[in-house]
Amino acid sequence: MSIKHIRINNFRCLEVISLELDHRRNYFFGSNGSGKTSLLESIYFLGKGRSFRTRQANKLVMYGHDSFSIFANTHGGNSLSLGAEFSQGSLKRQINGDYKIKPLDSALSLPVYVLDPNSHFLIEGGPSKRRQFIDWGVFHVEPDYLECWKEYRRALSQRNAAIKRGDNFRIWDQSYIDAGNKVNHSRSTYIEKLKNQLDKIDLDLIKKRISIAYFKGWDETLTFEQAVSSSATRDKVSGISQVGPHRADMIIKFDAKGTKENVSRGQQKLITIALTLSQVNIFFEITKIESLLLIDDLAAELDLGSLQSFFSLLDKVPAQVFITGLSKNYLPIKNEKYPMFHVEQGNVELIDLSHDFN
Ligand SMILES: Nc1ncnc2c1ncn2[C@@H]1O[C@H](COP(=O)(O)OP(=O)(O)OP(=O)(O)O)[C@@H](O)[C@H]1O
Ligand SMILES: [Mg+2]
Repeated sequence: MSIKHIRINNFRCLEVISLELDHRRNYFFGSNGSGKTSLLESIYFLGKGRSFRTRQANKLVMYGHDSFSIFANTHGGNSLSLGAEFSQGSLKRQINGDYKIKPLDSALSLPVYVLDPNSHFLIEGGPSKRRQFIDWGVFHVEPDYLECWKEYRRALSQRNAAIKRGDNFRIWDQSYIDAGNKVNHSRSTYIEKLKNQLDKIDLDLIKKRISIAYFKGWDETLTFEQAVSSSATRDKVSGISQVGPHRADMIIKFDAKGTKENVSRGQQKLITIALTLSQVNIFFEITKIESLLLIDDLAAELDLGSLQSFFSLLDKVPAQVFITGLSKNYLPIKNEKYPMFHVEQGNVELIDLSHDFN
């Protein structure tokens, strides 16, 4: 899916925006505080119903106003219209005028991925970031996964509540084990797909091998059922279920070494790029739907060679790409055929290249 036309009203510093967008790639250049990230944020919001910068939608409303809205039409024969309107604390979302949409409907209608200056946290941060990364990947390609994941969270919280009350928490074991095994199976399958995709990208992007492995969240020599039994005493003492998919992680190695200590900030970003492009590729392979890829201010910390490798890969990625930056001079682009927009004080204008704006 790709956005043909977008209209944004009162979203952060973007008061009234109306843009025709290119199906493949669009650039947005402008100084600090001009509204570049806000623009990407509005596109993300339309796809996901939330921001990647804040959990509070009211923070996104332009100061002095009480609502914001984002509407878009997609390219292609079966063009969709999508909308998100936030007013007086409540969010309404619609696809083709239908307001009864489920999370999966919009996730599949406008699948959106972000690479921004915080991307390295996927590598540097704790396991929950990586679990979230895998879960979003699985959720996009396995429609039943969300339900299965919720079932596991329910079983886990019931079991934990029983431990805290001092009740016989083991009566919850079966539902915790059954749901946990399903989550584990879906994630492990997804990791295999991710490995295949990474193998096609890593050398071109970063000149070294990136390898990943899934840590299930319990001793790998045991089944989940055995691990649950053997941790029952520890669970009781610690007051919480110690093993399971909620403790899982994706172990990432770069050039056969661990990433935490051996990898620079720029390399962490490149690894995150490789993982994200892999996700976009898997999503397309399975659904035949193109994603939206939002790339915010990536020139920071990447050298020209890395940026060049990244841009060559972007040509093949099945996604409509949005790229922001301070200036085109920091990016490896010459005689660009894709549209460039200038962002200034919340206004966005198509750049007239005859003036060669920087
Ligand atoms: N709710 C809001 N209403 C109006 N303006 C806001 C709101 N929230 C943030 N802003 C302002 O929007 C402006 C643009 O922010 P944004 O992060 O989009 O800029 P940017 O172009 O990405 O800058 P940088 O290059 O520094 O990343 C900022 O000046 C910020 O203060
Ligand atoms: Mg920004």
